Amino acid sequence: MKIAYTVEDVKSQVRQWKKEGLTVGLVPTMGYLHEGHESLIKRAVAENDRVVVSVFLNPTQFAPNEDLASYPRDFEADTKLCEGAGAALVFHPEPSEMYAEDACTFVDMTAVTKELCGKSRPIHFRGVCTVVNKLMNISMADRAYFGQKDAQQLAVIRRMVRDLNMNVEVVGCPIIREADGLAKSSRNTYLSEEERKAGLVLSQAVKLGQKLVAEGEKSAAAVTGAMSELISAEPLAKIDYVSMVSWDSIEPVETIEAPVLVAMAVYIGKTRLIDNFIYEG
Ligand code: PAJ
Repeated sequence: MKIAYTVEDVKSQVRQWKKEGLTVGLVPTMGYLHEGHESLIKRAVAENDRVVVSVFLNPTQFAPNEDLASYPRDFEADTKLCEGAGAALVFHPEPSEMYAEDACTFVDMTAVTKELCGKSRPIHFRGVCTVVNKLMNISMADRAYFGQKDAQQLAVIRRMVRDLNMNVEVVGCPIIREADGLAKSSRNTYLSEEERKAGLVLSQAVKLGQKLVAEGEKSAAAVTGAMSELISAEPLAKIDYVSMVSWDSIEPVETIEAPVLVAMAVYIGKTRLIDNFIYEG
């Protein structure tokens, strides 16, 4: 497995692969990789001849009050995980390699980004779309892999690729969880032992929501209300949002008509965790 630090190194390697007629899969990440990321890499390895994993903590998707500075890093462990999963190349650029000082072009969307995390993190998806667009261009990927863990992000990327006629197929992958249900996340490392236990309310709320919908509940407010009540009973939890939206246009719904996305963001202490489920009918 190769490690590349510059855009040009990735491009020349990929050009070589393309000359040989090989297909390329891309797995964009911000590092501190866990089994959730690993599942994406393994899927990409199964479906492409060569896989590029980007490990880049993208500054443009973090607001000044967010956790860019404290976001966990362990590049050595990341490279081991990538190699074990079968990646051919890890791209690990410095921010200055990705963004020229006078960079002034961004990918912005007027819908899909308005609700859920887009509401609480107004500049977030502009940063995500821009960097993912750049990573797709740099890697010339045939397919790119994203987790349903960040369901709105998956919908946003799909829309960007469709609207801009990009030459990449977006592949969505299921949420990987700890044995007790907590969705795996690089941010779980922020949690104290007590907070780790409290964090279980997210997956418990997912299970409750799934059960109510499966039993035939048709009111979105009834489902999100019951989930919010369960979460609010945990003293360490503070709800940012619990919402039901259409999948995958991410617009609020009142009556449940599949497919819908039921998504939440909850602070456990200072740590903001997300979880969700998609009801396909
Ligand atoms: P990051 O949070 O590192 O996640 C990288 C990819 O791994 C995303 O597609 C995310 O949905 C997926 N992922 C994370 N936890 C997962 C889990 N428990 N199960 C399944 N998939 C999981 O998302 C980002 O980075 C960034 O916004 C990025 C797309 C790289 C742009 O900077």
